Amino acid sequence: MATNIAEIPVRKICCIGAGYVGGPTCSVLALNCPDIQVTVVDRNELRINQWNSEKLPIYEPGLEEIVKQCRGKNLFFSTDMAPALKEADLIFISVNTPTKTFGLGKGRAADLKFVESCARLIAEVCDRSKIVVEKSTVPVRSAASIVNVLKANTKPGVSYQVLSNPEFLAEGTAVNDLKNPDRVLIGGEESEEGKKAISALSWAANAFLAQRISSINAISAVCEATGADVSEVAKAIGLDSRLGPKFLQASVGWGGSCFQKDILNLVYISESLNLTSVAAYWQQVIDMNEYQKSRFGERIVQSMFNTITDKRIAILGFAFKKNTGDTRESPAIHVAKHLLEEGAFLHIYDPKVEKAQILLDLDQLDEESGISIHTDPYEAAKGTHA
Ligand SMILES: NC(=O)c1ccc[n+]([C@@H]2O[C@H](COP(=O)([O-])OP(=O)(O)OC[C@H]3O[C@@H](n4cnc5c(N)ncnc54)[C@H](O)[C@@H]3O)[C@@H](O)[C@H]2O)c1
Repeated sequence: MATNIAEIPVRKICCIGAGYVGGPTCSVLALNCPDIQVTVVDRNELRINQWNSEKLPIYEPGLEEIVKQCRGKNLFFSTDMAPALKEADLIFISVNTPTKTFGLGKGRAADLKFVESCARLIAEVCDRSKIVVEKSTVPVRSAASIVNVLKANTKPGVSYQVLSNPEFLAEGTAVNDLKNPDRVLIGGEESEEGKKAISALSWAANAFLAQRISSINAISAVCEATGADVSEVAKAIGLDSRLGPKFLQASVGWGGSCFQKDILNLVYISESLNLTSVAAYWQQVIDMNEYQKSRFGERIVQSMFNTITDKRIAILGFAFKKNTGDTRESPAIHVAKHLLEEGAFLHIYDPKVEKAQILLDLDQLDEESGISIHTDPYEAAKGTHA
């Protein structure tokens, strides 16, 4: 089954998934490897059209310049998956692995249906040996399932070398993270232990980062109750060289597509392994985040004389963090919904998020029902109570 990687010269790469990982990763790859042709494919036609347009589907500092420089030369975006897969020497699987919304593990386990369908498509269309690199964040042992799917469906004379290379870029700093990664991990079929460690590491790292934020947010609740300044506490904690200053800023809570789903998956796996105390420990990191988001909304109401009905409140920033337009799991959604339920009228401004996305996230059809969306922060703040 396994092909020696050295026997496959890599001139053409195809990446399945033109999202927050596939898009920036392949753009930086194309920039740094002008002799390699990189084609990013996705079944989402709108997304591919946006990658081929002046307005890219995602915002990342520096990304637009790179895409403009490489697109049409050695970087291509397409919905025509079969020919791109057939031609490629190396294939990245960079599709989403959301939390399951049905069946076994509902609400917690990672849904691997997209990864599996990629493996099936590769086996169906490819008629020569290839390297397949799993970039999506997947649970331990799923590289083995990719191998099994490929093995069961492969054509005669074709073999695959499957590697795990989880991506650690963070949205908002993706280009810089790709150019200067803290670490690059590659697991091959030779070392089963190494491969398992690599799968585990990609979500364990996210769990640790989220845990730090939940920890400082828990301290922030104590500080508020006792009149201490959490930013001073965080500064002092960060000076301890064993801890360092990063991910120590108290906030309304963490968001984004990765932390929640990776920890939920960790909880699910721990429970499946009968490690109930471990599962409860990591569940608490999520619970603390939910508590912080609710606490934030409640504090706004309290500080406005316990009623915000008919009051106008400006929300500056709607994405889950700066320098991105991604609103997945953004705490702003939770807070905004809370304020709307309390009868407030919201003026929302975020230069990186489309109006339609904000309305969708808040389950609103239009701007009639308590929301106005602004393109200028001063306009958004005009006439508001807070
Ligand atoms: N977003 C991040 O910051 C980040 C960081 C590190 C790792 N990851 C991991 O990388 C993976 C991808 O994340 P993302 O944020 O880029 O997801 P995304 O949702 O932005 O993009 C995934 C893309 O894959 C496409 N897709 C899904 N199934 C497909 C199929 N069968 N054929 C063709 N296209 C298909 C979707 O249409 C979508 O455009 C996830 O496993 C995630 O956990 C994400």
